[in-house]
Order: sequence, then structure tokens, then C-alpha cells
Amino acid sequence: MSVICVIGTGYVGLVTGTCLADLGNTVTCVDIVQEKIDRLNKGILPIYEPGLEEMVERNVEAGRLRFTTSYPDGLENSEFIFIAVNTPTGNNQGGADMRYVESAARSIAENLDHYAIVINKSTVPVGSGDVVSRVISNNLKSSNASFSVVSNPEFLREGAALLDFQNPDRIVLGSSEPEAAHKVARLYLQLRAPFVITDLYTAEMIKYASNAFLATKISFINEMAQICERLGADVKQVALGMGYDKRIGHAFLDAGLGYGGSCFPKDVRALAHMADEAGLHPQMLRAVMDINHDQRRLVVSKLTNMLGSLRGTTIGILGLAFKPNTDDMREAPAVDIIHWVTSQGATVRVYDPVATKTGREALERENVNLNDVAFCKTPYEVAENVDALIIVTDWNEFKSLNMQKIRGSMRRPILIDGRNVYEPSEMNRYGFIYRGMGRAT
Ligand code: UGA
Repeated sequence: MSVICVIGTGYVGLVTGTCLADLGNTVTCVDIVQEKIDRLNKGILPIYEPGLEEMVERNVEAGRLRFTTSYPDGLENSEFIFIAVNTPTGNNQGGADMRYVESAARSIAENLDHYAIVINKSTVPVGSGDVVSRVISNNLKSSNASFSVVSNPEFLREGAALLDFQNPDRIVLGSSEPEAAHKVARLYLQLRAPFVITDLYTAEMIKYASNAFLATKISFINEMAQICERLGADVKQVALGMGYDKRIGHAFLDAGLGYGGSCFPKDVRALAHMADEAGLHPQMLRAVMDINHDQRRLVVSKLTNMLGSLRGTTIGILGLAFKPNTDDMREAPAVDIIHWVTSQGATVRVYDPVATKTGREALERENVNLNDVAFCKTPYEVAENVDALIIVTDWNEFKSLNMQKIRGSMRRPILIDGRNVYEPSEMNRYGFIYRGMGRAT
């Protein structure tokens, strides 16, 4: 078993550190934000992820997992140092902001006093492994310190992160020193996943290409949804029929409001930016982003087509989080939709099983007037006297609602199913005027 330091206790760092501890390693998580560490030491997690709280508690109790703000403490005896800090979109037309990665690399250099393998988990622009290497080399203080750099991109989905860590489809490791990559591979041997061992640049690119491909699948099916709607076909059945072809597969063919979250939007933007910088014109990536943006607008157009002016109307919103099983509001379609409908004079009633606090904060950040937003305790409360109801997030809870009751309390029976949760024919039977995404009505 190994001694590991994980830098950054955000989503990726906390899941990676905790799961590595659960495999039997001794893990210290370092974060520069004192308040975050204080809360973690009290067992309060900065994110909502099913199963994580229990896993943190179990490993802290077993003495395998601890949290600190001190780099010297975190790096002591560590054989592996994971960098898992965030790389938000910078202000340079979509490129990733490397500020946090670089400062983590500097702090490692200033405190390292032995040989360690530095592993980049953050999604970083192709070539960043070299930057990390250079920053560490230029700032090393101890003459006993030396290091190798390995890129090990993560493929964790929010809401299913523990499962994804424990059952990976593949482990990607990139380095100019294959021996270092093989040492990191040993950390994951128990997981019995295939390894793809490459150079640094290729490993970094695999992460972007994977996310961009999945985003492309989503935008593809959303474009098909628009065509289906016009031509009278049903996109759900089209996706089903396509998905049985093994070369296509069923995953990521759910038409709806498009992708959100902290990864796809940022990574597609960053990859397009890298291509631009390299003098290319990544037309498909641009189309993927445009279609994704249009899906949100489409819902509001459906609403105005049916209601005419939105002034003075009340719209019910089911779901705030960008997807189910998370309270993450980053790039969530709900924020844009609420922003657009309230700026057209509507008020909204909203409910999310988990993302109420984060939802409120996200709406505030987007300057939505919170006087126009009623936060409700149940979906049924949302439906009271609304002129239309929009399903924005496909939480399981929304798949088995008493639709008769919902229909009964609405002022007008307009149901816009942004995630194709319900069957049009069934909803029509309840008396709804139903609009799905790419579905014949
Ligand atoms: C995604 C990838 O799935 C992970 O493999 C990757 O590690 C992660 O980004 C990352 O780069 O860190 P995540 O953002 O948590 O994970 O969410 P997904 O479950 O992939 O969903 C992304 C978005 O696509 C959601 O907004 C979801 O509603 C949407 N989506 C997904 C669709 O609209 N249709 C689909 O068929 C599937």
C-alpha cells in the first residue's frame, strides 16, 4: 500500500483521495481553503455525492484518510502526489485557466524533499504536463527532491463517481517516463481495468476527445430531435433503434435540454480554443456548442408559442441541478430558462430534491430577481395554479408523479417535458397539452 497526497478537495480530489484510501492506501488531502478543511475534519463535505460521506467517515476512522491545509504535512513521505485542482474556463475565449494547477505545482516544488511521482488528474490543456514539470523544476528547494510527471485523466460522472472510480472502463496514464506510469498503474491494479499507457500529450488529449465525443452524441441526437419533431417521427424510438447497432450504442442518445455541468461545456470550449490556437477551424465542435445552447432556447420558444406573451404568467419548473443525483448548478439549463422566462415577465415556482440552496445561489449569481422565484417543497406545490410546467432535470422522483393530481392543480394544462420523461399518449389522456423534445404529439 502506498502513501499518497491529493491536492485539491473539490469534486475530483475528494472522490479520488477517498477511493484511494478505501483501496487501503494512506491518503492526505491538501486544500488551501482553511474553512473547507475545517468542515471536512468535522465530516461536512463540500459536495453532494451519493455514498461519499459514509466512505469518508469510514476511512477517516480507519486512519487512512486525513485533511490538512499544510503542504509539508501532506507531502511528507508521499510517493504519489495527485494534482486535482480545478481548471475553469479562463477569460481567453474558452481556454482553460491553469492558475490553480501552476500554483499547486509551485507549492509542491517548495515543499518536496524526496522523490515522488506527480500525477495530473485535473483536465488540462494538451501540453500542460510539460508546464507542471517546468514549474516544479524551476522552484525546487531541497537538493534531495526529484520527481516524474504522469497524466492520469479522470472519467468520473457526478452522481455515480464512486461507482465509476471502482469500475473504470479504462485507466489512462501518460508520461515521458514509462516506468513512472507503470508505478501509478499499480495503484489501480485491484480495479481490473484495461490500461492505456501513452505519452503525456496523448493522455491529456484522450480526456478532451472523450468528453467532446460524448457531447457530440448529445448534440447529434438533439439535432435529430428537432428534425423528428418537424417530420413527425419520435426521437426516443429513433435513438432506441439506432442504439442496438453495437457501433452506435444506446448511451448518450437521450434528447432533451442538452448538456450542462462543470465538464462538457468547459472541455468542449477548451478543445475548440486549443484547435483555434493551432490555426484550425473546429467546425464540428462549434456546431456541438451551438446546438447545445439552442436546446434551452427551444423550450422557451415552445412556451411562448403556446402561451403567447409570458407577462403575468406563472411557470412551474421541476428540477434545478444540471442532472439528477447532484446539487451541482454549474451551466445548468434551469438557470438560463428561469432567467429568460422571468425577464419576459413571468414568475416561476421551482422544486429540486437536492439543489435548492445551490440553485438559489446560482440564480442570484445570474441576477435573477429572487422575488420572481418561489421555492417549493414538493412537485405538487410547484404545480399549484401554474400556466405551464417544465420538467428540466430527469430526477427519478419526477418519473412517477401523480400526474392526475398535478393536472388538477394547474391553471392551464401545458406540460413541457424537457427530458422526455413521460409518454405523450399517456399525458394526452390526462388532458395535458404535452410537448416533449423531438416527440410526435
Ligand atoms: C462527464 C463525463 O460523463 C465523465 O466521464 C467525465 O469524467 C466528467 O464529465 C468530467 O470531465 O469530469 P458529468 O459532467 O458528471 O460527467 O455528467 P454526465 O453524466 O456525463 O452528463 C453530462 C450532461 O449531459 C448532463 O447535463 C446530462 O443531462 C446530459 N446528457 C447526458 C444528455 O443530455 N443526454 C444524454 O443522453 C446523456
